[in-house]
Amino acid sequence: MYCRHVKLVSNERISETYYRIGFECREIAEKARPGQFLMVRVLEPAWEHMLSRPFSFCEVSGDRIELLFNVVGKGTRSLSETRVGSSLEVIGPLGKGFSSEDVSRAILVGGGMGIAPLPFLASELTKRGRAAMMTVLLGARTASSLCLQDSFTDLGAEVRVATDDGTAGHRGPVTDLLGESLKGASDSGRVVYACGPEPMLRTVARLTRERGVRCELSVEERMACGVGACMSCACETRDEHGGVHYQRVCTEGPVFNAAELLFDED
Ligand SMILES: Cc1cc2nc3c(=O)[nH]c(=O)nc-3n(C[C@H](O)[C@H](O)[C@H](O)COP(=O)(O)OP(=O)(O)OC[C@H]3O[C@@H](n4cnc5c(N)ncnc54)[C@H](O)[C@@H]3O)c2cc1C
Ligand code: FES
Repeated sequence: MYCRHVKLVSNERISETYYRIGFECREIAEKARPGQFLMVRVLEPAWEHMLSRPFSFCEVSGDRIELLFNVVGKGTRSLSETRVGSSLEVIGPLGKGFSSEDVSRAILVGGGMGIAPLPFLASELTKRGRAAMMTVLLGARTASSLCLQDSFTDLGAEVRVATDDGTAGHRGPVTDLLGESLKGASDSGRVVYACGPEPMLRTVARLTRERGVRCELSVEERMACGVGACMSCACETRDEHGGVHYQRVCTEGPVFNAAELLFDED
């Protein structure tokens, strides 16, 4: 884990509230794995009385790191207004990412801003020769909230989309598409990776459990420290004997095996 001050080299608004920023940091880029994250803090003008905020690695190429974020509050608003050339403090790579071992067919599911960690995961799977067997399912409220589809099609992945209002692709939840993709023969190398809102993750966990398919979920909790010191990010998990434990999303996660996670309905 490194703490570095970096200069913003790009800041692009890609939809009404979605922004993509880029900076360079060799040490962090070399160590980053898909599904891991950074704690980010704006230094110019410096955030006063505000903690760093967690963001997933969206794309990592050479020394370059890109983040994708949605403006939801004060921190993300401030980040969206940060000018190219300004300084950020970044701490990372943090947390446990997705595994890419023993994958013969990958299905990536992103709901809303849950798309953020998937381009990096898709390019890592491609490097391991999995692109020909990769399907990406993206869900959004409406067509204008969909983004980054090219980053998957450029890798040769099949991309299917779903929108709540039917303005692009299937009308309805993206998990409807997952249900279709899981039909047919199962094999042990098939893996579903998902990131998105909790109701979506809950459905993904149920569908994969019913089909006996390996599944890894990236979960979000509010984080104060990001490094395991404060317990603000604890989530309930279940071990193989049915015992219930608390684990820190920032250190034991944010990626968990679906079978481990306890959702509100469990
Ligand atoms: C491991 C991890 C990776 C993340 N990666 C990304 C990413 O790549 N792109 C992205 O846009 N966002 C990501 N997030 C969420 C992002 O950190 C929050 O949106 C951000 O911290 C909000 O800061 P804010 O000051 O703008 O909003 P605040 O003013 O702090 O909050 C605004 C609203 O957002 C909700 N919120 C804030 N933080 C979280 C959180 N962690 N989980 C759920 N709801 C939250 C609050 O409850 C509130 O309703 C990630 C979160 C985690 C834990
Ligand atoms: S955010 Fe402090 S322990 Fe996870």
